[in-house]
Amino acid sequence: MAEPLLSVRDLQTQFNTDDGVVTAVDHVSFDLAPREILGVVGESGSGKSVTSLSVLRLVANPGKIVGGQILWKGEDLLKKTEAQMRAIRGDDIAMIFQEPMTSLNPLYTVGNHIEEALALHQGLHGQAARERAIQALEEVGIREAPARYSSYPHQLSGGMRQRVMIAVALSCNPDLLIADEPTTALDVTVQARILDLMLRLRTEKEMAILLITHNMGIVAKLCDRVVVMHRGKIVEAATVNDIFAQPRHPYTRDLLKSIPTLDSAPKTRLATVQWHPTPQQDAHSNLVEVAPGHRVSAWVAGG
Ligand SMILES: Nc1ncnc2c1ncn2[C@@H]1O[C@H](COP(=O)(O)OP(=O)(O)O)[C@@H](O)[C@H]1O
Ligand SMILES: [Mg+2]
Repeated sequence: MAEPLLSVRDLQTQFNTDDGVVTAVDHVSFDLAPREILGVVGESGSGKSVTSLSVLRLVANPGKIVGGQILWKGEDLLKKTEAQMRAIRGDDIAMIFQEPMTSLNPLYTVGNHIEEALALHQGLHGQAARERAIQALEEVGIREAPARYSSYPHQLSGGMRQRVMIAVALSCNPDLLIADEPTTALDVTVQARILDLMLRLRTEKEMAILLITHNMGIVAKLCDRVVVMHRGKIVEAATVNDIFAQPRHPYTRDLLKSIPTLDSAPKTRLATVQWHPTPQQDAHSNLVEVAPGHRVSAWVAGG
């Protein structure tokens, strides 16, 4: 592997609760190379979000990082001051979350959000900031960007809001995007488009992505490598091809069994998909080949 961009070593994050100490992240170690997409998978409560929040030192009380190192370009983020961390967040490492409505301020326009990031991290103001913001909206595939620039979050669809969040996150050209379940709240067709967008932007912007998901279909489509978390620990780490071809840990095998299939997709959402299989095709034609002879169901239609 090339010199890692991010190297997490023996990370331990705990919560002090009334019932005692909960170790949410238990000696977690992984590396992320420049431009690599690393998936972090695991069931709900396995420690994925706390791991990603720990990288940015955003774990809130009663949570606390109690051990390990987070080496960013060789420097330990756990030794930085809060002011240094503020400069790194957004500028070097950006993050997007599952539900963009909770990250967007309802009183701010789309343009306000991007311009705030540009002012904070790049010192851009006025006309220059406006032009850069509109360009950022175009980059994430928002049509009629100058008009959308003045929209408020509630005037946008879920998919559009997530595009805006990505535009805000990428407006400062970070080297790493942390995406925590970025498409979980979206319906399958919008999900596929957002994932295609992330793949395109990874190449165009030459950034790495730490992608948190519980969906192995998404892992198959996007990731280069994957780590599997279970009860705060990494139980398996492998390339995407290897994990589908020969999962080693029993828990990983269970995860692979729970890949969402066409049948389990919500019926109401399927009804909106413009996809009509011919008699020659069948329900398997949306499968993604992830390893020789091994296919997984990703989603029902392309973007
Ligand atoms: N605010 C909190 N207070 C107490 N425990 C928490 C808190 N947030 C997370 N945890 C603990 O950390 C574990 C991992 O949470 P999280 O990283 O959010 O899981 P995931 O993102 O994989 O669904 C939870 O199972 C819980 O035990
Ligand atoms: Mg989570």
